[in-house]
Amino acid sequence: MKNKIDELLNEVNNLAAKNLDELENLRIKYLSKKGEISNLFNDFRNVANEEKREVGQLLNELKNAAQDKINELKNSFDSSSADQQKTDLSLTADPIKLGTRHPLSLVKNEIIDIFARIGFGIAEGPEIEDDWHVFGALNFPPEHPARDMQDTFFIEQNPDVLLRTHTSSVQSRVMANQKPPIRLLFPGRVYRNEAISYRAHCFFHQVEGLYIDKNVSFADLKQALMYFAKEMFGAETDIRLRPSYFPFTEPSAEMDISCNICGGKGCPFCKHTGWVEILGCGMVDPNVLENCGIDSKVYSGFAFGMGVERITNLKFQVKDLRLFSENDVRFLEQFESAY
Ligand code: DAH
Repeated sequence: MKNKIDELLNEVNNLAAKNLDELENLRIKYLSKKGEISNLFNDFRNVANEEKREVGQLLNELKNAAQDKINELKNSFDSSSADQQKTDLSLTADPIKLGTRHPLSLVKNEIIDIFARIGFGIAEGPEIEDDWHVFGALNFPPEHPARDMQDTFFIEQNPDVLLRTHTSSVQSRVMANQKPPIRLLFPGRVYRNEAISYRAHCFFHQVEGLYIDKNVSFADLKQALMYFAKEMFGAETDIRLRPSYFPFTEPSAEMDISCNICGGKGCPFCKHTGWVEILGCGMVDPNVLENCGIDSKVYSGFAFGMGVERITNLKFQVKDLRLFSENDVRFLEQFESAY
């Protein structure tokens, strides 16, 4: 018995196969139920008791060696066929997956395009700002709650340095440096000290608009915004302006559009009112013009500001704001084709 085991072990260690078929035949020869090794196990009962321990061990070793050898040969076929594939230069290359534009960029660009058609250009300003450009020049009284530590990210060492809470800050920079007429959009990222949840984030994006010239009236503001709403959400869209308050505009208003999800009939998105708020606006307060060196007796103007996330939500019904900054391609790749 021991001799037979030795003999088989020798055979097993020198096994070779040219292909998977040959290998399968070897497996059957040695390891199947009627194979040579199984036969030895059957004969085991005839081994003398005092030898059982030693022979049993040898038998098990033989079985493991055969199994290992067969596996080793099998792996060598797998990897050599993979190698062959790798070096097959005639194979077509895998296509390189194209990226897609971020939904917020797509919507921001559409806003910019719509206003470009009525003569609005673009200006940008810094995200790290000072108190004057974010609040002071825009007529915020010193004790105004918007300056509160709860909303604004300040820097401990210097309370004059802060992250802008709105892109209205670019108004103060542009008006101080350019002579009217001014007809510009200010797109950009803004920061607020908010707890992050599905409906609030510590940063988001705005597009601000500013038009300063002689004889600019509230009717001009209304026309410009109505044109925007219909271009953005469809010709059937209605707007309504509700009186509001902003330190930098007088009078001020908030603009709603008829809910484009239910067509104004009422749904959970518009809280069953048929209307959704999309922006703040108003006539630039004469104090702001004067703060920035523009003669408020000669010039007047309007301004408006909207959140890009909000407009995007209305267009695409994104339920969780956090998706915009998580960079999950499964989310991001859905939007470009909708444009
Ligand atoms: N800056 C305002 C905000 O961040 C939005 C805004 C409201 C901008 C009215 C304006 C405006 O230009 O006239 O909430």
